Amino acid sequence: MTDVPTRYLGELAVSAQGLGCMGMSHGYGASDDAQSIATLHHALDLGVTLLDTADFYGAGHNEELIGRAVAGRRDEVVLATKFGFANRLGEPTLIRGDAAYVRQACEASLRRLGVDHIDLYYQHRVDPRVPIEETVGAMAELVRAGKVRYLGLSEAGAGTIRRAHAVHPISALQSEWSLWTRDLEAETVPVCRELGIGLVPFSPLGRGFLTGRYSSVDGLAETDVRRGQPRFADGNLERNLAIVAKLDELAAARSVTAGQLALAWLQHRGDDVVPIPGTRRQRYLEENLAALDVGLSAEEIAAIEAAAPPEHIAGSRYDATSLTFVNR
Ligand SMILES: NC(=O)c1ccc[n+]([C@@H]2O[C@H](COP(=O)([O-])OP(=O)(O)OC[C@H]3O[C@@H](n4cnc5c(N)ncnc54)[C@H](OP(=O)(O)O)[C@@H]3O)[C@@H](O)[C@H]2O)c1
Repeated sequence: MTDVPTRYLGELAVSAQGLGCMGMSHGYGASDDAQSIATLHHALDLGVTLLDTADFYGAGHNEELIGRAVAGRRDEVVLATKFGFANRLGEPTLIRGDAAYVRQACEASLRRLGVDHIDLYYQHRVDPRVPIEETVGAMAELVRAGKVRYLGLSEAGAGTIRRAHAVHPISALQSEWSLWTRDLEAETVPVCRELGIGLVPFSPLGRGFLTGRYSSVDGLAETDVRRGQPRFADGNLERNLAIVAKLDELAAARSVTAGQLALAWLQHRGDDVVPIPGTRRQRYLEENLAALDVGLSAEEIAAIEAAAPPEHIAGSRYDATSLTFVNR
C-alpha cells in the first residue's frame, strides 16, 4: 500500500478514497462501537482523511461515534456530514430544506460531532417544497459564520445543481455511483465537471454486493435495509450474482478481489472522483484502500463494463418510494 493520494472536491483537498461510516450505526444490522472506533482510527493512521456521516445515521449515533473517534485528531480529518431527513429510519420519509431547519440541523450536528466546524456539509436530499436557492442560501450563511467550510448536495438533479451553484459554489455531489448504478453518468457528471464540482460515489460496492460476499439475504439481520431493496429480492439477486461471477473472473486474473476491481473502476473515472466505501472492519478497510494501487488499462475497463451492462442489472436501486427522492 502506497501513501493515499490527494484528490480535490472543488477546492477541498481529501484522500482519494474516503470512509463511509453509515453502517457503523445504521442500515446494515447491529454494530460494535469499539470495533467501529478502531476502524476509524486505523483509517486515519493509514492516511484516509475524508469521513462520511449524516445526522440521519442511527438518529445521531453515527455523528456522536465519529465525534468520539476524532477527538484529539480533528486536524487530520475532513468531516463530511449531511442534513435533510427529518424523520427517523422506519418512519415515513420527511425531507426538510427550509432555512430554519438548515440552521437547526447544523447546530445539532456540531454538538454531536463535538466540533466547531464541519468541513463539508451536504443536503442529503432535495426538498421539493423549498426552492433550492433558500436551502443553499442558508447553507452559505453557515459558511460565512465559520460553521461550515464547503457545501455539497446528494442525489440532486442536474438542473438543481446549476441553480444551487449559482447561489454559492458547490464543492461535491454525493450520489450513488458504481458498476451497477450508472444513471448519473449521462447528464449529472458532465454538469458537475463543467462547474468544477467533485464527485463522491456512495455505495460504490453496491452495498457490499459487488464484493461477492452476499449470495443470499439469509445471513442479513432482520433490520438490514438491503432485505427491502429490489436488487437483493428473490429472483433479482440470483440474476445479479451472474455479474459478480464475471467480475470475480476478471479480478482473479489480476490477483485482486471483485470489490477492489469495482473501486478501481470508479477511481479511473476521473481525478475528481472520490469513492467512500463503507465498512466497519479494518480488514475490509485495508482491502478497499489497496484498490487505489490497482491500475487499469483501457481494455480492462472495457471488460469490466462489459461484465455489468446496465440492462442486465435486475431490480431498481431503491424501492419505489425512495426513488421519488433521488435525482431531483
Ligand atoms: N448520500 C446518501 O444518500 C448515501 C446513501 C447510502 C450511503 N451513503 C454513504 O456512502 C457510504 C458507503 O455506502 P454503503 O455503505 O451503503 O455501501 P458500500 O460501500 O457499497 O458497501 C458497504 C457494505 O459492504 C461491506 N464491505 C465493505 N468493504 C468490503 C470488502 N472489502 N469485502 C466485503 N464486504 C465489504 C460492508 O460490510 P461491513 O460494514 O460489515 O464491514 C457493508 O456491508 C455509507 O457509509 C454512507 O456514508 C450515502
